[in-house]
Amino acid sequence: MTAGLQPAVAAGPVGPGEPLYDLRGVRYVYAGRQVALDGIDLQIWPGERVVLLGANGSGKSTLLKLLDGVVGPTGGTMRALGRDVAAVAQGEDGFRFHREVGLVFQDPDIQLFSATVLDDVAFGPLQLGLSQEEVKQRCEEALAAMEIAHLADRAPFELSGGEKKRASIASVLSLRPDVLLLDEPTASLDPRTKWLLVDLIQRLSASGRTLVVATHELDIVPIIADRVVVLGEDRRIIADGPPATVLADTALLVRANLIHEHLHGHGAVAHSHPHEADDTHHGADREA
Ligand SMILES: Nc1ncnc2c1ncn2[C@@H]1O[C@H](COP(=O)(O)OP(=O)(O)OP(=O)(O)O)[C@@H](O)[C@H]1O
Ligand SMILES: [Mg+2]
Repeated sequence: MTAGLQPAVAAGPVGPGEPLYDLRGVRYVYAGRQVALDGIDLQIWPGERVVLLGANGSGKSTLLKLLDGVVGPTGGTMRALGRDVAAVAQGEDGFRFHREVGLVFQDPDIQLFSATVLDDVAFGPLQLGLSQEEVKQRCEEALAAMEIAHLADRAPFELSGGEKKRASIASVLSLRPDVLLLDEPTASLDPRTKWLLVDLIQRLSASGRTLVVATHELDIVPIIADRVVVLGEDRRIIADGPPATVLADTALLVRANLIHEHLHGHGAVAHSHPHEADDTHHGADREA
């Protein structure tokens, strides 16, 4: 049983009728030469559950970093939480932005830097200047939500990949952000933990949070999203709609490199069984 989740702040950061995020023609270029996003028009509304799909390198992580305020756009305009993003980067506004939005990075090693898991989970709440009691309560809640209370005193660098992922998610849950950005949160999780997280995402959404999740796992998309945004290999949005519509568009999924033509030709369902466990058919492959 996971800990109860506090509802998101009733009076949200934006006024009625205003999107939480409003990106117009947003471009992001790394180191002045590597184009990651090119002409992104995107509005995200409070309480939405959005999944970002796209092939490797299509810009999902970069877009999440923009939504978190880790980086600002190279071009175009962006408003976030009712403020211009240039203003968000500094001073009191910056602090508020980071209190409202939490990003779970794709790579947990970026998220975890303390001596123990508990220190990492407590870091955010301590930064917010909360009381010891409140920090303790939030840490217990976050560790329980990811079922890692037993890892609290372990050093993050000694954990397995999936344990690190769970710890990194807990370190963001403890902030209780209104907006939760998750970059491939189920990657490297075992099936039980994956569905624990899917359940948690549903409950976070039910408590009023806005969720944006980048994933490659199409099976969870209809459960965790009411909107799917697909980034193409040209680093633009090539589809934006309900999961049922987007996931039914096979030509689009192939074009976006989300399903493979060859596998599709054989039927996606036929390939959903665990190959590794099938010695009869794949014995030779397993030698490789
Ligand atoms: N730190 C960086 N410096 C330079 N280029 C980068 C950096 N990070 C990402 N890129 C480039 O920006 C583009 C978008 O990368 P991004 O990580 O946003 O893609 P992604 O959709 O998250 O991919 P994946 O599915 O592999 O996680 C890629 O071409 C990538 O090589
Ligand atoms: Mg990524």
